[in-house]
Amino acid sequence: MGDNKRPETMERITTPELASTFIDEQIQALQAQVGDKKVLLALSGGVDSSVVAALLIKAIGKQLVCVHVNHGLLRKGEPEQVISVFRDKMDANLIYVDATDRFLEKLAGVTDPERKRKIIGKEFIDVFAEEAAKQDGIEFLAQGTIYPDILESGPVKSHHNVGGLPEDLNFELVEPLKFLFKDEVRVVGDALGLPENMVYRQPFPGPGLGVRCPGAITRDRLEAVRESDAILREEFARNGLEGEVWQYFTVVPDFKSTGVRDDKRSFEWPCIIRAVNTKDAMTATIEQLPYELLEHITERITHEVPGINRVLYDLTPKPTGTIEYE
Ligand code: XMP
Repeated sequence: MGDNKRPETMERITTPELASTFIDEQIQALQAQVGDKKVLLALSGGVDSSVVAALLIKAIGKQLVCVHVNHGLLRKGEPEQVISVFRDKMDANLIYVDATDRFLEKLAGVTDPERKRKIIGKEFIDVFAEEAAKQDGIEFLAQGTIYPDILESGPVKSHHNVGGLPEDLNFELVEPLKFLFKDEVRVVGDALGLPENMVYRQPFPGPGLGVRCPGAITRDRLEAVRESDAILREEFARNGLEGEVWQYFTVVPDFKSTGVRDDKRSFEWPCIIRAVNTKDAMTATIEQLPYELLEHITERITHEVPGINRVLYDLTPKPTGTIEYE
């Protein structure tokens, strides 16, 4: 069909001017494809789906129905940012579903990483399909497919994304980014006026904080992951490391150790910091964080995050470790 091959004449989008030409062409193409019909989009708040949403809002406005499913495993502030950027600023037709309880109930007691991933993936599709069924007149499904996904060289989505959307929903696909590489998507996102921290954000796995809460997920340990991650991100931003380091996050493993707090014995979890650099996520090296910064982050996490009495720094490259813990 040749439909999935990037045209050889297509210029690499490296400047705001080239992005704006791409945007104008896509708006016309999208209007021609969709007409006056409605389009559904699962909007995670990641770069790709956010850029697709912003493009479609420009092209077809309220004919786009965005569904943001909060599976309870998002980072601190993420659902709020999706709502404020898309509903408040861009006036999008956005359905927000807080499905936290439903996901955590299904995940309760489940320790096997692959089962956790499958449950999250299946539940996501179920929630999304339920929302889709409530909508009248949807004929298209928009997706943030990018060229590496099609080439199957994408280390991230190709082998373990949870977000494979329901093919049985029987919609025609709308994939405006399918010939773009990630750096081009970011240039387009910038040109569309999306916030910088959305456009240049680090990769975040579909199963979210679920893979950083190894073993059976509990609400309190999940909160410890979320809060420590927020502190780490805040400190990276404050110290000019945001956008410089490929991926950085915290993990709270499922064991406790003895400590002291306020002259009393404590028995709490450790929190592991991981910060890695890579080009393609197949191998990764460790970011050498300044010692003073590590000490400062340790001080903050042990004092601000309930349930954490130690902070550890993971020095393991990939291989032998993977980037994530599950
Ligand atoms: P690993 O842990 O395999 O991760 O070294 C490589 C890259 O893939 C991301 N990752 C995922 N992304 N769904 C995703 O969309 C997933 O299930 C998933 N698991 C890992 C990981 O964050 C890293 O960037």
